[in-house]
Amino acid sequence: MRAANLSIGFVPTMGALHYGHLSLIEAAKKKCDIVVCSIFVNPTQFNQESDLNAYPRTLENDIQLLLSCSCDILFHPEVSEMYGESMEKESTEDYGNFIHVLEGASRPGHFDGVVTVLRKLFLLVLPHQVFFGQKDYQQCLVVQTLIHRSFPEIIFHLCPIAREMDGLAMSSRNVRLTEAERALAPKIFENLSLVANNWKKDYWQSVLSQASINLQQEPFVFEYLSACDPKSLRELDTFQENAIILVAVRLGSTRLIDNLIIQA
Ligand code: PAF
Repeated sequence: MRAANLSIGFVPTMGALHYGHLSLIEAAKKKCDIVVCSIFVNPTQFNQESDLNAYPRTLENDIQLLLSCSCDILFHPEVSEMYGESMEKESTEDYGNFIHVLEGASRPGHFDGVVTVLRKLFLLVLPHQVFFGQKDYQQCLVVQTLIHRSFPEIIFHLCPIAREMDGLAMSSRNVRLTEAERALAPKIFENLSLVANNWKKDYWQSVLSQASINLQQEPFVFEYLSACDPKSLRELDTFQENAIILVAVRLGSTRLIDNLIIQA
């Protein structure tokens, strides 16, 4: 396809597809001739085997969804095809300080696994353009660094978060929420919006504390709610107009992340 001068857009996923993934595929189709989607539950990016085993796998449904949208090629390799004998990971230690905070701190080694599999996928698929969702914002910064260092010819696209009607960010993990947890989950976006709507020099710290307190109420298990610089992910100690608010909480056995970018 490259030889035929067709442009290749790539949407890497771990399956359990939902509208958020389909929106990435549609974004890719607008920019490229051919859209490749990969489904590969990458073992090296999971910290706990229980999380890997519990990760939803819905291949038949995923294939139906891909047939219904603009995907041209599904790449669905086996673990042995991607890793052979060795599950060795490359290191992201020297990617910069942003690698060690937030998800990097909560899930040690996670980004090493992400970079390891994406290098393999990029070398196999040879995309011209890649499409990633803003929900995994820190992962997007990691991917941009990988591209900058090793695949400078690939164009990176940061695509908006797809949300349910009540604001909950779409995620493959949402299917694991009980009915009661699902009813509470929109509070995550509500509190991000509370911060964004009161993002003023005099209030930003008090509103951040209030949102953190709100997300510490049972049954939420609070991990972080942090206002950071969007480029460096350095936690803000003074007010700045352009910021990103990132949050991670657990509801029962499900860990949920979300974020909101605030622009002047
Ligand atoms: O975001 C994901 O689904 C995964 O981290 C990715 C990018 C497909 C790598 O396994």
